[in-house]
Amino acid sequence: MRLEKIKFEGVRNLVNTEIIFDPAVNYLTGNNGAGKTSILEAIHFLAVGRSFRTNRDNEILKFNAPYLKISGLARDNNETYEAEIRLTEGIKTVFLQKQKQDKLSAYLGWLPVVTILLADIDLVSGPPDRRRNFIDLAIAKINKNYLKNLIEYRAVLLQRNKLLQEKAEIAHYEVWETELAKYGHEIIKERRIIVPILLASAQKFYAVFMQNRDISFEYKVNLDNYDIKISNEQEKFLELLKINRAKEQELGHTIIGPHRDDIIIKEKALAVRKFGSEGEQRLAALSLKLAESELLSQNNRRPIFLLDEVASELDSTNTQKLFELIQGQFFYATAKEFKNISNRNGKVFYVEKGQITKTEATW
Ligand SMILES: Nc1ncnc2c1ncn2[C@@H]1O[C@H](COP(=O)(O)OP(=O)(O)OP(=O)(O)O)[C@@H](O)[C@H]1O
Ligand SMILES: [Mg+2]
Repeated sequence: MRLEKIKFEGVRNLVNTEIIFDPAVNYLTGNNGAGKTSILEAIHFLAVGRSFRTNRDNEILKFNAPYLKISGLARDNNETYEAEIRLTEGIKTVFLQKQKQDKLSAYLGWLPVVTILLADIDLVSGPPDRRRNFIDLAIAKINKNYLKNLIEYRAVLLQRNKLLQEKAEIAHYEVWETELAKYGHEIIKERRIIVPILLASAQKFYAVFMQNRDISFEYKVNLDNYDIKISNEQEKFLELLKINRAKEQELGHTIIGPHRDDIIIKEKALAVRKFGSEGEQRLAALSLKLAESELLSQNNRRPIFLLDEVASELDSTNTQKLFELIQGQFFYATAKEFKNISNRNGKVFYVEKGQITKTEATW
C-alpha cells in the first residue's frame, strides 16, 4: 500500500492541512517539539484508529479543539482506498470509500502499518508479555479469528484465576477449564504455524545486521515444558489444568498455557535479552518488526512504515542496511541531520511549530 494523501484537523500541535506524500520515501525533519511524531501519529490513527504513543484517544486531540478529523487516500496496485476517521466527544466515527462503517473492526487495518520506534528495544529487553503482544498483534493483522479467540481466552483466564483466588470448590472449575483449553488450543495451533515463519524471517534480518553471527530466534511453547503422555494438545492442556489446580490455588493464578509462551533470542548461545548490547537488542527488535512486515506482505497486506528516530541509535552501516531492508513506503521522522542517513530518494518535509514550512526532493 501507499499513502498518497492525508488531511487532518485537530491533531496535537499540528496546523490543519493536507499533505501529499512521496510513494516511496518521506523524511520529516525539524526541531524538537516541531510536530514530526504527531504527523506519524496522525497517519497511524487514520490507519488503525489509535495512537502508538498513548492508549487515551483524547491526548491526540489538539488542546481545546472540538473534534479530530483525519482523512486519507491510499493505493495498492490499481485499487484506490479512501478512509476517514473522526473523534468527537470521545466517540469515533469511521468511513471507508465514503461509506460509514458501523463496526470499528470493519475499518481497522484498512491500511496496514508497521511502526519502528526507539521504544521497540523493549520488545527484546522487556518482559515476555511484550513479545507475546507482538506475536499476537502480528497474527491478528492477518487473521481476524485469532483476535476473537484471544479475547475469549483472556476472559476465561480471568474467571479461572478468580476461582483460584477464592479457592473455589472443584465442581466450579470444569466449565471454565474446558473453555480455556478450547481457546488456548486454537491460539497455540495458530502460533505454531505463524510464529516459526515470523522468527525465521527475523533471524534472517538479524543475520544481515550482525553479519551471520551464530543467531537463533526460538518460539517457546509453555505447554511443551510439561511432559505428560497425551498427544492431543487440547486434552493435554485440560489435564494439566486439573493436575495443577492445587498448586495454582496457592499462587492465585494460572501458570500453564499460551499466556506463558515466549520468544528466546540468542547470539552465540547467549540470551540477547540479558547479554546483548543495547545496539544488538535494538537490531534484534528491528528484525522482529521487519519480519512482521514481511509476514504482512506475504499475506497480501503490504504495509507502510512509520519510523521515529530509530537510526539515531544505530551505526551508519546498520542504518544503511535498515533503509535497504524496508520494502515499502516509509515515513521517517528525525530531529537530527537526515542527509546521508539513507541513499533512498524521496521527499523531505521541514516541520516547524506544527506546520510544514518547506517540501523538497532529496538531493
Ligand atoms: N493534544 C495536544 N494539543 C496540542 N499540542 C500538543 C498536544 N499534545 C502534545 N502537544 C505538543 O505538540 C508538540 C509536538 O510534539 P511532537 O512529539 O510531534 O514533536 P516532535 O517534532 O516529534 O519532537 P521531538 O523531536 O522532540 O520528538 C509538542 O510541543 C507538544 O507539547
Ligand atoms: Mg518526536
